[in-house]
Amino acid sequence: MTDDVTVPPSSPPSSPPSSPPSPPAGGQPAAPAGFAPSVELRQALADVRAQVAKAVVGQDAAVSGLVIALLCRGHVLLEGVPGVAKTLLVRTLAASLQLETKRVQFTPDLMPGDVTGSLVYDARTAQFSFRAGPVFTNLLLADEINRTPPKTQSSLLEAMEERQVSVDGEPRRLPDPFLVIATQNPVEYEGTYPLPEAQLDRFLLKLTLPLPEREDEVEVLARHAAGFDPRDLAAAGVRPVADQAVLDRARAEVARVQVAREVLGYAVDVCRGTRRSPSLSLGVSPRGATALLATARAWAWLSGRAYVTPDDVKALAHPTLRHRVQLRAEAELEGVTAETVLDTVLASVPVPR
Ligand SMILES: Nc1ncnc2c1ncn2[C@@H]1O[C@H](COP(=O)(O)OP(=O)(O)O)[C@@H](O)[C@H]1O
Ligand SMILES: [Mg+2]
Repeated sequence: MTDDVTVPPSSPPSSPPSSPPSPPAGGQPAAPAGFAPSVELRQALADVRAQVAKAVVGQDAAVSGLVIALLCRGHVLLEGVPGVAKTLLVRTLAASLQLETKRVQFTPDLMPGDVTGSLVYDARTAQFSFRAGPVFTNLLLADEINRTPPKTQSSLLEAMEERQVSVDGEPRRLPDPFLVIATQNPVEYEGTYPLPEAQLDRFLLKLTLPLPEREDEVEVLARHAAGFDPRDLAAAGVRPVADQAVLDRARAEVARVQVAREVLGYAVDVCRGTRRSPSLSLGVSPRGATALLATARAWAWLSGRAYVTPDDVKALAHPTLRHRVQLRAEAELEGVTAETVLDTVLASVPVPR
């Protein structure tokens, strides 16, 4: 994988627990007797990955990130240049889950009401009634979110934060779960309205899709040559293999994954390190630190462990934190990026052992 530093998960969680989890490093409490991540539930999530792989070649890190977000019930922002299969990836993920899904293409002329819903006049009853918008669903695919102006973006960002929408002064609760997977082109692209920085932390993870490796790209072409049609996922054999009950059970197990105090300390030190970085005007908040804990825990569980290691924290630092820091203008001019800052911090914070 080219973008190794940003790859969350290094090995795909689909690999079966071939050997028992390695013994905890010194200082780490052993997992409580009787709890080990269930092979059956982990297999269910590996099955989801296998469905996605029927359409999407490679992009393992992004797929892992999406699975982690499902386990954490967090929103995801997926960034990449046009044509790297952002849309295909989220469509295929949706097709491999038994969840109610809607997709909205965020165009420049989309109005807030097109997302949240609006009051419509019914001539028969001479009354207004609420027509729910696509946001009333379990999994919302918000495609090209930064192509729509701020007003429409913020209608979605508000819904994500509050898990309800207010139309005509009346709050209406969104279904549970409510997950947003948004895609966007990098900000340099023309005709984009950058998401408000202050609201970016509503996304649990920001995943970046790199250009594929040569071999992966050849495989994409091979599939096309063999008749793969990205518009017909059913024909590619993609089918729903996990439902909400499975996700809920997996999530309950993730909540039992142990985290030693030293590992909590390590996650906190990484976040505090960003606050001291001379390249940043804004470091990671305590909310960001809790997000890092949550994603590292889900990753530990997916890896078949009942406890979190510092490496889990390290593996999730980039996708969980990269959108929660703000670069100083001077640093940006010098070519510093959120990724390089996070690398520097990770290299400087002592790892507990
Ligand atoms: N990693 C990949 N795996 C499979 N198909 C890919 C991959 N990358 C690009 N493609 C092909 O390119 C097309 C464009 O993908 P799309 O999801 O529309 O990209 P984006 O939303 O990033 O602009 C896909 O339909 C697919 O045919
Ligand atoms: Mg697209």
